Amino acid sequence: MGAPEQLRGTHVNVNGKEYFVQKLLGKGKGGYSYLAWDGDRKVVPKQIHHEPCSYYNFGNKIEAELNDYQHLKYIGIPMPMMIDVDRDQERIVKEYIDGPTVFEMVLHDQLPKTCVD
Ligand SMILES: Nc1ncnc2c1ncn2[C@@H]1O[C@H](COP(=O)(O)OP(=O)(O)OP(=O)(O)O)[C@@H](O)[C@H]1O
Ligand SMILES: [Mg+2]
Repeated sequence: MGAPEQLRGTHVNVNGKEYFVQKLLGKGKGGYSYLAWDGDRKVVPKQIHHEPCSYYNFGNKIEAELNDYQHLKYIGIPMPMMIDVDRDQERIVKEYIDGPTVFEMVLHDQLPKTCVD
């Protein structure tokens, strides 16, 4: 993948499969997440980055991402399906989930009480 802003309208390759990038969804401490199209549905490829982060120390970022994903799934949090993992290129692809993020729901006091419990 090239620079994050230049990817719109290009394809990203994950384990040999091409995904058409529509936009950057967000950048975190560990990677860039994009909205992309796989021919049938919306997906979210995430490219791990190695930019420094002042408040966090990392080991292996892709393994941390996968461990956290498995942990949240194990404790019963509904998670987008993990579609593919490309360790060589440090990319993952998840199912796209429409709607507000948990952060946005908390911000607007819209998180259902069951989630808080
Ligand atoms: N599966 C998904 N479906 C819909 N939107 C998503 C999905 N995954 C990520 N996003 C969007 O992309 C943004 C960034 O996602 P990402 O997982 O990279 O965030 P992060 O956890 O803050 O990053 P990092 O782990 O690198 O710190 C999210 O805030 C959300 O808006
Ligand atoms: Mg994260």
